[in-house]
Amino acid sequence: MTQHIGILTSGGDSPGLNAAIRGVGKACLSHYGMHIVGFRDGFRGLMENRTMELEKGQLSGILTLGGTILGTSRDKPHKMPVDGQVLDMIETIVASYHANKLDCLVCLGGGGTQKNALRLMQAGLNVVTLPKTIDNDVALTDTTFGFDTALGIATEAIDRLHSTAHSHHRIIVVEIMGHRAGWLALGAGIAGGADVILIPEIPYQVESVAAAIRERSRSGKPFSIVAVAEGAVSQQEHLDRLAALARKKGRKAKDGAREPMPEEAEMVYADRTLNLAKQLELLTGLEARVTILGHLQRGGTPSAADRLLSTRLGTAAADLIHQRHYGVMVAARGEATEPVSLEAVAGQVKTVPPDHTWVESARRVGTNFGD
Ligand code: F6P
Repeated sequence: MTQHIGILTSGGDSPGLNAAIRGVGKACLSHYGMHIVGFRDGFRGLMENRTMELEKGQLSGILTLGGTILGTSRDKPHKMPVDGQVLDMIETIVASYHANKLDCLVCLGGGGTQKNALRLMQAGLNVVTLPKTIDNDVALTDTTFGFDTALGIATEAIDRLHSTAHSHHRIIVVEIMGHRAGWLALGAGIAGGADVILIPEIPYQVESVAAAIRERSRSGKPFSIVAVAEGAVSQQEHLDRLAALARKKGRKAKDGAREPMPEEAEMVYADRTLNLAKQLELLTGLEARVTILGHLQRGGTPSAADRLLSTRLGTAAADLIHQRHYGVMVAARGEATEPVSLEAVAGQVKTVPPDHTWVESARRVGTNFGD
């Protein structure tokens, strides 16, 4: 019996998504003789049964293409915005899966997508996922596709920012994506030779950063590059958040019910980065300028490493589908791949251990982490 496969991309776009679609698609179609259909814009397209034919023609010429030919969204199956309401649409999604006579659904996405795929698996669907995100924060895989390309973009940006820093004797604060984990800021900070790297996993003291910058000035280098992850916070903000969380937990414990707490006023990342630059200007006497790399880090053609990774993971997914091995994420493991259960992956975030070898290496070359 010909197997019928559905595929969708969910969450933020990322370099390598089309290479992964191609890897899954070509292996399923040409190597295994399966039928494959794409669903548009993530789980929403599956719910609405908005499909895209995926034949050889559509899979040709997309290896080097940024973004995703299927489109994507951050919509969740169990919390889907519909006509101004937020509804649990899992049943509709299950119906769409069966209406398309699918044997398996392939979901390409980050941490949130792994959780949503598990929900659909628990609703009875056969699911296989691939780990995608420039943040590299998906658990139980060596790496995710998108990370290497973003690392190159952010590193080149830091290289270029050295010119202004050196010429104007300035502090350049460059904000790098990564709201939950600091892998991208850490990797690009090291590769770009940033003098300071601030990541969510190591809450910082702005005075420690300023002291390091002042010390550089005294040693004849009146300029510094500060690479800061979106999610990096000061030690004070970290403590404030822990206190707010404790209050929230306390309230839940007291009332029992899931009393909705007023959402913390999530400071927009850029505000925090601008404030940091202002504080450093005041504390060091040097001019400071801010560059926010934003979605540049997700744009354009994937690196060779990401094309290779996406193809490896995509074709491995087709192998697992052929073996009827469902309910797993295809993890990168060295030069190979390994299926890991969705139960083990979902809900986990791979953060940077504060004593990680990359952190230790950076410290050995004199990088300051604000601690
Ligand atoms: O999850 C990847 C990511 O690029 C994060 O690094 C970033 O904080 C977020 O997506 C931005 O989300 P959006 O594209 O929805 O603004």
